[in-house]
Amino acid sequence: MMCLEITTRQGSYFVHLGDLPQITLDCRVLVVSDTQVGQLYLNSFLDHLEATHISTHLVPVGEAFKNWESVESILEAGFRARLGRQDCMIALGGGVVSDMVGFASAIYKRGIDFYNVPTTLLAQVDASVGGKTGINNAHGKNLIGAFHAPKGVYIDPVFLKSLEARAFKAGVAEMIKKAICLDASYFEWLHTHPIKTHLLEAIFKSVQIKARVVEADEHEKGLRMGLNYGHTFAHAIEKEGDYSQLLHGEAVGIGMRMANALALELGLLDPTAHTRVETLLRAYGLDLSYKIKNMDMFYATMQQDKKNSAGVRFILPTGIGSFEMVDDVPKNVVYEVLRIWA
Ligand code: GLY
Repeated sequence: MMCLEITTRQGSYFVHLGDLPQITLDCRVLVVSDTQVGQLYLNSFLDHLEATHISTHLVPVGEAFKNWESVESILEAGFRARLGRQDCMIALGGGVVSDMVGFASAIYKRGIDFYNVPTTLLAQVDASVGGKTGINNAHGKNLIGAFHAPKGVYIDPVFLKSLEARAFKAGVAEMIKKAICLDASYFEWLHTHPIKTHLLEAIFKSVQIKARVVEADEHEKGLRMGLNYGHTFAHAIEKEGDYSQLLHGEAVGIGMRMANALALELGLLDPTAHTRVETLLRAYGLDLSYKIKNMDMFYATMQQDKKNSAGVRFILPTGIGSFEMVDDVPKNVVYEVLRIWA
């Protein structure tokens, strides 16, 4: 069992990594999952939970349902469960569930506590920690939401046993993302320690990096921007596919390669570092092919990205373990680089 304490200006919370312990809460609890995870794990999770009163609610599976309707259904379940300000919600599921439960609990009666019990690799290494919550809408991904940190996070790798290879790879993308832009020693470690055979340590290291970043910059004014490497492209990829063709992590994998190509073109990343980064992505099967459907719409979606100030803001690697925010890339240069995927 390993434990981390994450301290930000808003307070602190724990991340527990290892076998799910017995959880005892002195309040009413709403446990939210999706129909797939719920069928697999809800009953066994409830065996670990003791509370004043427990209700459950299931949402549909997938990023395409990360919307107002699902959040409203969670809020409604909260009212039916008669949750008060002292009560809480628990998200049992992947990043979609934790983003929505986090958001619902941020706005329910102006904010109640929630806990994350992430069941996918992506949620365990990234989405469950850091307090970013929200939903997608017609304008783009995660454009509505709130920063609302969980009260605690329980990461149990046992949930990953039922994860499909595709979803596992999607989680790996978020681990490699941190290595490339934020931590050269994790990058070297991933080269020599295959994630599957060093799973617990690989997750722990990834969460440690996330914790360090969130503690330094919870509200994404600087360092946390590094966690968005590949994401400007990825969000446009996901929107092009109506959030139902690629998993978020798969889109991040492709987005990182687009960012690498742009960084190489701009002279920010030297060819040797570019090759090393691409080699690691390929080693983990993240050299996925993709064809942009409509370049103008793809670019327009990137212009809606919430990181932008003037123009599109790209987070680009500048070496192994470092990145830069670049605001002023001429549109024609972006188009030229993206021609590889056109
Ligand atoms: N997933 C990116 C972040 O938490 O900042």
